[in-house]
Amino acid sequence: MSTPELEVEGLDAAYGASQVLFGVRLSVERGETLALMGRNGAGKSSTFKAVMGLLRPRAGRVMVRGREVTGQPPYRIARAGLGFVPEDRQVFPEHTVEENLEIAERAGVAGREWNARRAFEVLPLLAPLRKRLAGRLSGGEQQMLTIARSLMGNPAVLLLDEPSEGLAPLIVQQIGALIRTLREMGTTIVLAEQNSRFCLAVATQVAVIDKGAIVWRGSVAQFRAEPDIQARYLQV
Ligand SMILES: Nc1ncnc2c1ncn2[C@@H]1O[C@H](COP(=O)(O)OP(=O)(O)O)[C@@H](O)[C@H]1O
Ligand SMILES: [Mg+2]
Repeated sequence: MSTPELEVEGLDAAYGASQVLFGVRLSVERGETLALMGRNGAGKSSTFKAVMGLLRPRAGRVMVRGREVTGQPPYRIARAGLGFVPEDRQVFPEHTVEENLEIAERAGVAGREWNARRAFEVLPLLAPLRKRLAGRLSGGEQQMLTIARSLMGNPAVLLLDEPSEGLAPLIVQQIGALIRTLREMGTTIVLAEQNSRFCLAVATQVAVIDKGAIVWRGSVAQFRAEPDIQARYLQV
């Protein structure tokens, strides 16, 4: 088997005295889209923060392309190959869409394939917005922009925290189409989600988290065949 793009083993993390992650393990192979699914408060965002070094792990390992990054500062972990889109989707509101992308352009572990020009070629919904101020975009457009911006660093793996949250159904479909396009281009993605329909439409692999621990892992096909897992751990 090849080295996973991202591998997480035995990850524990806490906010002060309150432990929220208990031995979290994840493994993402190149080209896969892994959905990290779980209810509100299950530990999805904390997992991403601990992986990115924004929440210091107490135990466990984070490996990017076989290289250990556990305990390193967030900018080093990002340079090792992780692109992160947090829940709050921050853009530079006073700058145009194009400037938001250009600011983030950087050669990364995956080379120089991505830059603003390429994003406008490949992501058709973004192209007409290139001169628009980012602060004037709708929530869905901002989400598309933050996803595109995270690609500008040419990461090995993209971590998307609840990309469909708070968006209207039509926009959720567009975000889903964007994620599928990236997957078809070979991008490796981990997305945190509560919405299992959205996950099943875009992911190839599933990990279910509950009370800070991974309780189930498998392919999307295996997940579909286990409706009791969905009923027990997720909103349907
Ligand atoms: N900054 C924080 N300080 C203290 N507890 C937190 C903080 N952020 C999250 N938590 C707690 O950690 C647990 C996991 O939360 P989170 O990772 O945000 O879950 P999810 O992203 O799956 O909704 C919850 O019990 C939540 O209340
Ligand atoms: Mg969250």
